Amino acid sequence: MIKKMTINTIKKSKNTTPLVMMTAYDALFANLFQESADIILIGDSLNMSFAGKNDTLSTTLEQMIYHTNAVCKGAPHTFTICDMPFGTYTCSTTALHNAVRIFQETPVDSVKIEGGSDKADIIKHLVSNGITVCGHIGLLPQSVRGEGGYLVKGKDEAGKAQLLHDAKSVEAAGAFCMVIEGVKADVAEHIAQNIAIPVIGIGAGNGVDGQVLVFSDMLGLFEAFTPKFVKQYLQGATQVKEALAQYRADVISRTFPDATHTY
Ligand code: KIV
Repeated sequence: MIKKMTINTIKKSKNTTPLVMMTAYDALFANLFQESADIILIGDSLNMSFAGKNDTLSTTLEQMIYHTNAVCKGAPHTFTICDMPFGTYTCSTTALHNAVRIFQETPVDSVKIEGGSDKADIIKHLVSNGITVCGHIGLLPQSVRGEGGYLVKGKDEAGKAQLLHDAKSVEAAGAFCMVIEGVKADVAEHIAQNIAIPVIGIGAGNGVDGQVLVFSDMLGLFEAFTPKFVKQYLQGATQVKEALAQYRADVISRTFPDATHTY
């Protein structure tokens, strides 16, 4: 079992061993992941992977609280981060009200909010009120409708400068780490080298301080498409379908249940 991390050990991990982060949405998978993950993210990607929606925007605070409690129950010894859903941190007052609900209604260790310099005041307000915050810069899934798609960031000089400014603003506001998503590897590496807190990448190459993947992507459970940055460590969909086909065949042929599975 991995020793539970704290915001201090996460910060100190900078320039040592990369951090391993996974998403999870329920107790069953969280319990399996705690053996290998330093951090479990209850991502609002659950709106797509779990609820089958097209994007993350309709996720509610109540859903995040429900899934966060399930994950914390399954992995009580793993550091956890709960995504604050779209529309729950539109200003400092709203953000604090909703983050306090997350902290009071779940045992989660921290929250994550999407945005860079534009969210610095909100992050600062949360941190000064005892909420531990993970930032999220680069491609922001909650902005997908406004941006017209999931667009890789930092492709030109202005984009690179904006990302570095975002990272520095999030750090200065008091975040203990940040996710960087959908950014060219050299740009993400440059950012990681120029701030003091860990930068955890998804689709951001190998030069950062850790990696996060959505569990249904990395276990090959999501068949519709596989983003370029995803490595499938299991052919989950194929294996589940093969198992179900075998079960169906056994039921129809009355091979199951046999004597060993009968009282
Ligand atoms: O919601 C999520 O799963 C995330 C990851 C993509 C980092 O924010």
